[in-house]
Amino acid sequence: MKFPKGFLWGTATAAYQVEGGNINSDYWLMEHLPVSPFVEKSGDACDQYHRYVEDCALLAQLGFNSYRFSVEWARIEPEENEFSRAAVEHYRRVLTACHDHGLAPMVTLHHFSSPRWLAAKGGFETAAVGEAFARYCERIAHDLGDLFASACTINELNSVAHLQHGGVMPPDEVIVQLPWRLEAARISNTTPERYSMFPFVARSTTGQNVLRAHRLGAAALKSGRAKFPVGMTVAMQEIEALPGGEANAARALRESEDLFLEAARGDDFVGVQTYTRRRVGPEGPVGPEPGVEQTQMGYEFRPQALEITVRRAAAVAKVPIIVTESGIGTEDDSRRRTFVEAALAGVGRCIKDGIDVRGYYYWSAMDNFEWLLGYMPKFGLIAVDRMTQARTVKPSGEWLGRVARANSTELAD
Ligand code: BGC
Repeated sequence: MKFPKGFLWGTATAAYQVEGGNINSDYWLMEHLPVSPFVEKSGDACDQYHRYVEDCALLAQLGFNSYRFSVEWARIEPEENEFSRAAVEHYRRVLTACHDHGLAPMVTLHHFSSPRWLAAKGGFETAAVGEAFARYCERIAHDLGDLFASACTINELNSVAHLQHGGVMPPDEVIVQLPWRLEAARISNTTPERYSMFPFVARSTTGQNVLRAHRLGAAALKSGRAKFPVGMTVAMQEIEALPGGEANAARALRESEDLFLEAARGDDFVGVQTYTRRRVGPEGPVGPEPGVEQTQMGYEFRPQALEITVRRAAAVAKVPIIVTESGIGTEDDSRRRTFVEAALAGVGRCIKDGIDVRGYYYWSAMDNFEWLLGYMPKFGLIAVDRMTQARTVKPSGEWLGRVARANSTELAD
C-alpha cells in the first residue's frame, strides 16, 4: 500500500508522560497522596524536558516526518493568569528542534493533566474552564503559533463519557467520596464537591463543558496571526453488540462518541484514537472473549478496530481524519509490528475508498508513564532505560520508520 503524498507519519507522546517533574500539575498531587491510586510515581519520566533534541533527532533518523506532543498547561500558567515566559521559551526550543529535524509539530494543548489551581477551582466540572482554556490557548497561539504545523485542543475530550460507558467509572456520588479526592481537596483548600481532575470527574454534565472549552480554545488558537489546522481528538472503540446488547451499544456509540464527532464538524480535522474493541451485552460491557489474545492493558488484541472507527469518524464528523493515536502495550515487540501492520492495512482500505485520512501517529514514541499503571505497560517504539534514560530503538520502531520514509508498507523489509 502506497500512502498519499504528504501523508503524516508520526509518533505521539504527552508532556506529563515523558517530560518528568511536572510538579505543578494535578496528577503530581494525586500521585503523591498516601491514598494515591497510582501504582508508582512519574518522577523524571523519560526526562524529555531535557532530552528533546536527542528524541527529535532519533525520530527523524528513523524516518518520521511529524511528532505529536503536548505542552503542559501547569508549566505555562503556573498560577491563574500568571504566565511563565521561561516555560514558553522552553517549548519554543522544542518546536525549533522539531523543525530542525524535519518533524512537523502537532501540538496538543491539554493531555489529561491540568494546573493544580484549575483542579482546585472545579476543573472541567465547571463551565468557566472554557474561558480559562481559551485564555491559555490564545497566549500559546500568540507566542508559539508560528512554529505549529497543527494543534489538538483537548486530548480525548470524550474521555469521561467513554469511561462511563466502558463500565470503569464509578457513579458520581462514589467519585466525590474517593479517598484521593477528599485528600487532594483538603490539600488544595477546597471541598471534595469542587475539586476536580480530568477525566475522573463526578458530574455527568462535564461533556458539555469540555466541548465548550474545545470550541473557545479552537477559536482562540485561530485568532492569532499564524494559521494552522486545529482539531479535537476522540477516544474511539469498535463497539460490538452481543445478543440483547444492541440498545446499550447504540447508546454508548451515541453518547460517548457520536455526540463529540458531530461537534467536530466545523473543525479542520478530527483525531481518531483507537486501541481495541468493546463488546456490549444486555448488562453493559463484558470484556474480551475468553482465550483471545490480550495486551498489557487487558485489551483485546484487535487492530481491525482502527478501520471501523476511522470509517465511522469520517461518516459522522465529515472532516479529514488524522489517526492521532494507535498503539499497543506489549513486551513482545513482534506483536507490535503485527498490530501496526494490520491497523495500517485498514487505514489503507479507508483511503482507497476515498476517505480523507491525512496521517498516522503511533502511540507512543517511547515507553513512558502510563498513568495509573505506571511504567509497566510498554507502548514504545523506543525502550527507555529507567536508570540511565538511554534510548534503544525496538525492531518495530526501525520497521515503522522505514514505512514512514517509503510512505508505503510494501517497501519496508
Ligand atoms: C491516551 C494516552 C495513553 C494511551 C494508552 C490514550 O488514551 O491519550 O495518554 O497513554 O491511551 O493507554
